[in-house]
Amino acid sequence: MEKQDGKDYFGFEGQAQSYAKYRPQYPDQFLQYIRAEHMKGLNHNVSIDIATGTGFLAKQLAINLGFKKVYGTDISESQLKEAANKYKDLTNIEFHQAGIEELPQFIEKHNLKNENQLDLITFGQSIHWMPLQKTLETLDSVLGSSMQQYVLVLAYSKPLIYDGQNLWQRIKEQNMESKGFVVKTNIPTDYQFDQSKQSIQSLISEAYEEMWAKIYPHFRFDRSVIEKFYTPFNFDDYLNVDTQIIWNDLTPQKSIHEVFGYMNSNSAYQCYLEDHKIEKGSNEDPLVILKQKVAQTCGSDIQLANEIKIDFVTPYFCYLMSKKSQ
Ligand SMILES: C[S@@+](CC[C@H](N)C(=O)[O-])C[C@H]1O[C@@H](n2cnc3c(N)ncnc32)[C@H](O)[C@@H]1O
Repeated sequence: MEKQDGKDYFGFEGQAQSYAKYRPQYPDQFLQYIRAEHMKGLNHNVSIDIATGTGFLAKQLAINLGFKKVYGTDISESQLKEAANKYKDLTNIEFHQAGIEELPQFIEKHNLKNENQLDLITFGQSIHWMPLQKTLETLDSVLGSSMQQYVLVLAYSKPLIYDGQNLWQRIKEQNMESKGFVVKTNIPTDYQFDQSKQSIQSLISEAYEEMWAKIYPHFRFDRSVIEKFYTPFNFDDYLNVDTQIIWNDLTPQKSIHEVFGYMNSNSAYQCYLEDHKIEKGSNEDPLVILKQKVAQTCGSDIQLANEIKIDFVTPYFCYLMSKKSQ
């Protein structure tokens, strides 16, 4: 299915709100790890978060990473509205409507051309939405040559509902260390998988994977690049790739409603409904089907189903890049 120019795939009714509430946020520990281990000497003057959506990475840059000033840019009016409203009390963040194509003009307009100003440009779950070659050329054109400036491309591939084994199988099958990645698995130290929940987690995982399989062809970009941790992208033709990291982050006891909310925020789910002309909330709605299957695991006891908690693993990954040396 082709992406339509000018269409806002993040502006479906209620999507920005779902997005702000339920999308995986980049774990602070992961960001701190990247900074401490791989971005030594980073200054914290200004960063620009491209395609900021509802702005949570911009917020993390401003608060957790301590940037003096953060600009969040995006093309989606409704996402930006949600971001501006959510973070209206943070005086060091500004949100602006601008596409990646306009980055050079944006930098000029905000007086960020001075090389000691702009320290970091970030992308969160977004570079795959953009024309890659043009985007990399743009980045190359705005990076200064004589200083420590970074581009941090962050993303996460399909999260999984942990059934006690599937995470380890997946890591082994992917074998990403052999492809140059540092692979980390972050599990809370006091975590223990509750074996008594294994069969229920497996059934829920199956229903969740079924919904994914259904909506997957409705992404308006080649989503498989994310499952391949962007390895098909030729970043290093344009920029210097300093580090590639995969960070499997386990959240125990996530409420099933948060999983439903996450699926609701998915652009492919919204496009699936639109493409098949399915009414939201009807029996053909894949999210309704997922909810029904989850309820069945509790013998259709709705109250019990509402209280289900699952262990959720999100495979975050990043490419930390800088200007190619001349
Ligand atoms: C999946 S969302 C990611 C939002 C947020 N950064 C995050 O980490 O969740 C992708 C975002 O990319 C934005 N986007 C798509 N094409 C863009 C472009 N050419 N320039 C800037 N933003 C774009 C969309 O509007 C959307 O908000």
